[in-house]
Amino acid sequence: MKFRFALLLLSLAATAAQAQEDTVAETWTAKCKSCHGPDGKAQTQMGKKEAIQDLSLPSWQKSRTDAQIREVIAEGARDNKKMKAYKDKLTPQQIDALVAYVRAFQKG
Ligand code: HEC
Repeated sequence: MKFRFALLLLSLAATAAQAQEDTVAETWTAKCKSCHGPDGKAQTQMGKKEAIQDLSLPSWQKSRTDAQIREVIAEGARDNKKMKAYKDKLTPQQIDALVAYVRAFQKG
């Protein structure tokens, strides 16, 4: 019974995620792409200047938990003020969606 409920929640989440796909891509394009690039590889002026890591690399992906990625987006990077805190600009849902979006770079 519990398992079926979990499955139901999962499929609801998947549907919601699909509906959100456009908006999270739009958020990335509007707020993140200028430094991180369309693909997270940071082949941008700012990316090169600040030596931003390639977020699509498996080595980077493995070195961070979802919670750590979430925190950087919400609170900003401790070591680099260029990576600002987005908790006042984005909703918690948007930040969660961006964590998933960043995770998806590894596949591309
Ligand atoms: C003005 C440039 C700029 C913008 C815009 C920007 N970032 Fe960053 N971001 C950086 C820099 C610089 C770093 C490297 C921070 C460091 O070395 O600690 C970084 C690092 C990161 C990291 C990796 C942190 C880690 O622990 O390795 C993630 C994830 C990230 N940014 C996500 C985002 C998201 C999501 C957005 C949009 C909401 C965004 N960034 C917008 C400059 C930017």
